[in-house]
Amino acid sequence: MLRIGLLTSGGDCQALNATMRGIVKTIYRNAKEPVEVYGFEDGYQGLIYERFRLMDNRDFSGLLTVGGTILGTSRTPFKLLDTPESDGINKVEAMKHTYAKLKLDCLFMLGGNGSTKTANRLSEEGLNVIALPKTIDNDTWGTDLTFGFASSVEVATRCIDEIHTTANSHGRVFVIEIMGHKVGWIPLYAGVAGGADVILIPEIPYDMDNVCRVIEERDKAGSRFTIVVVAEGAISKEEAALSKKEYKKLVAARTSPSIAYDIAAEIDRRTGREIRVAIPGHTQRGGDPDAQDRIFATQCGVEAALGCLEGEFGFMVAQRKGKMCRVPLKEVAGKLKLVDPKSDLVREARALGISFGDE
Ligand code: F6P
Repeated sequence: MLRIGLLTSGGDCQALNATMRGIVKTIYRNAKEPVEVYGFEDGYQGLIYERFRLMDNRDFSGLLTVGGTILGTSRTPFKLLDTPESDGINKVEAMKHTYAKLKLDCLFMLGGNGSTKTANRLSEEGLNVIALPKTIDNDTWGTDLTFGFASSVEVATRCIDEIHTTANSHGRVFVIEIMGHKVGWIPLYAGVAGGADVILIPEIPYDMDNVCRVIEERDKAGSRFTIVVVAEGAISKEEAALSKKEYKKLVAARTSPSIAYDIAAEIDRRTGREIRVAIPGHTQRGGDPDAQDRIFATQCGVEAALGCLEGEFGFMVAQRKGKMCRVPLKEVAGKLKLVDPKSDLVREARALGISFGDE
C-alpha cells in the first residue's frame, strides 16, 4: 500500500487544485501497489490536529480548471512553529505523530516561502516531504516560475486595462495597487502587459519627485491620463535607507488604508491633478487558473508524483530555464527570489519610457 498525504498551505492561488490533480492522477496511473490519499484540511492545521479526509482519484477529477483549493488553506507562521498553540500542543511533534499514525509514505506540500521552511523542518525531522512551488508572488527561490503567478498577472493586467479607458475619459491620474509585499514580480509583469506609465516595486526604491515629473511631462505632451502601478510593498529612497526596525515602525504608524493612498495623496499635494486609487486586492488570487498555470501546475504535480514513486524525497519541484528539476528543500528554505533591477524586462521597460521612479 502506498499512502500519500496532501496539504495546501499559506495564501491560496488559482492553480492549487490543478496541481493536486496532477499529483494524484500520476500516482494512481503509475503506482505498482494500491494507493491511499489523505487530504489534510486547512494546511498544516489539518496535519497538526488530525483533520483529514480519506480520498481517491475520483475526488481530484474535473479540477484542472477550478480555482481555490478543495482542501482549504491557512497560514501557520514558521517563526511560531516552536511556540506551542494556545491549547499547549507542540506543532512539530503533533505533525510527526499524525504522519506516523497514518503510516504515510510521503507528504506533498503545496506552499510558498514560509510553508517551504516548515516542509524543510519536517524533512529534517525524518518525514518524506515533497514541496511544490505555489504562490502568485513568484518569489520562491530555486525556481524560475511558481504556479498561480501567471493567472494573477492576468487578473492584474485586466484591472489596468479597465482603468485605462476610464482614466482616459476623465483625464485622471490613477494609482493601481498590485499585490507583492516583498517582491514586485506581479506589478512588473502586469505593469508592462497593461502599459503602465510608472511601476513602483520594492526592489527599486522610488523618489516622488521623479514620479511627479513623469505625470507633468505626460501632461505637457498632451496625454490625458497617467497610470501609476504600485506594489503593496514599494518603498521610497528615504525608506530604503532606514533600518528594518525603523521601517517596520513607520509602516505600523501609517494611518491610510495602504500605500496607494499615500502615493495618491502625495501626487495630489504636489501636482494638484485629479487622482483616483484602484485596488484589485484578492481578485488577484481568485477565479480559475489560466492556460499557462494549468500547464505548469500539471507539470509540477506530475514531477512531484514521479519523484515519490522513485523514492526521492526532501526536494521542491522547480523549473529552471524551461527544464523541470528537483531542488533540495534545504537549499530553498528561507530564501526569496527578488526582481533583478538589471533584468531584461526592467531594461526593456525603461527603454520604452516606463518609469520606475528611481531616476
Ligand atoms: O502571498 C500571497 C499574497 O497574496 C501576497 O501577495 C499578499 O501580500 C498577501 O498574500 C495577502 O495575504 P492575505 O490573504 O493573508 O491578506
